[in-house]
Amino acid sequence: MDRPISTTLHDFTPATKAFYDDVVAGLNRRPRSLPCKYFYDERGSQLFDQICDLDEYYLTRVELEIMRQNADQMAKQIGPGVMLVEYGSGSSVKTRLLLEHLQSPVAYVAVDISRDHLHQNANDLARQYPAVEILPVSADFTEDFDLPVPTDVPTHNAVYFPGSTIGNFEPDAAQAMLAKIVSLCGCRGGLLIGIDLQKESSVIEAAYNDSAGVTAEFNLNLLGRINRELDADIDVDQFEHRAFYDESLGRMEIYLVSRTEQTFVIGQESFGVAAGETIHTEYSHKYTIAGFSELASRAGLTLRRHWTDGQDRFAVLHFAVLE
Ligand code: AVI
Repeated sequence: MDRPISTTLHDFTPATKAFYDDVVAGLNRRPRSLPCKYFYDERGSQLFDQICDLDEYYLTRVELEIMRQNADQMAKQIGPGVMLVEYGSGSSVKTRLLLEHLQSPVAYVAVDISRDHLHQNANDLARQYPAVEILPVSADFTEDFDLPVPTDVPTHNAVYFPGSTIGNFEPDAAQAMLAKIVSLCGCRGGLLIGIDLQKESSVIEAAYNDSAGVTAEFNLNLLGRINRELDADIDVDQFEHRAFYDESLGRMEIYLVSRTEQTFVIGQESFGVAAGETIHTEYSHKYTIAGFSELASRAGLTLRRHWTDGQDRFAVLHFAVLE
């Protein structure tokens, strides 16, 4: 089959070119891997929303329960006159709980990579909370970005980072991410963060191997996205989802496994994979409160308070920037 490869590659936007470079580099690496940040195209985001509604995926439900029960105390802990900066502003229910309880918040900054989602959410919030300046920032929060300057001067900045998203970073990267938060917030700043806790492996594994197969579809969609966006011909049906909990490392490991020996093309590159060969796609780290606090203290944060559910499945932690 003739493939107008050079034309296609030249047509890539910078974002697509970065995606292409990351995919090619990851598949040429041993062991092979693909960055989990690419899960979230439109289809991936829809599938992730479905995951959050699954019975087995306790994380979202339990975090929300913790927020519902303790948002008043969390707001007190954050303090009055804050500029609240949320990383990945998808969690509008949790945000609203905080905004409703915060004392005279000056501004709410929603940082999200998805522009459409961001502006829709910001408009809704602006209508609902007219006293709070709503400032959407379209950015990848894993990269450096500038905070907007609100009209009124806040007493301090606080980052809200829900959803256990920090768990998708390896510990060194998580620490670097927390250090970035510290420099963004500056002195008197704070961080309210959701983390998934270590627990019985069967409970954790079920959350990533749901019976409806949504997580499998979410994982496989990454290959579908590569086909759709990068001029590739991967036979997605020839891969399967594998997810298991490594108790000693406290992390879920998620892979795509080739069902057969196969070859495929992505843009100008051709790849051959053996039957049973794996492509790593995601880690999801589970912490203890002590373990996460230690990691955070290395980034310049000190634990002030934390809240968990009755079964200690999930925790929301409030940290202050070390003076
Ligand atoms: C976004 N993140 C916190 C999810 C998690 O649980 O690590 C992503 C996910 N991957 C598979 N299911 C959900």
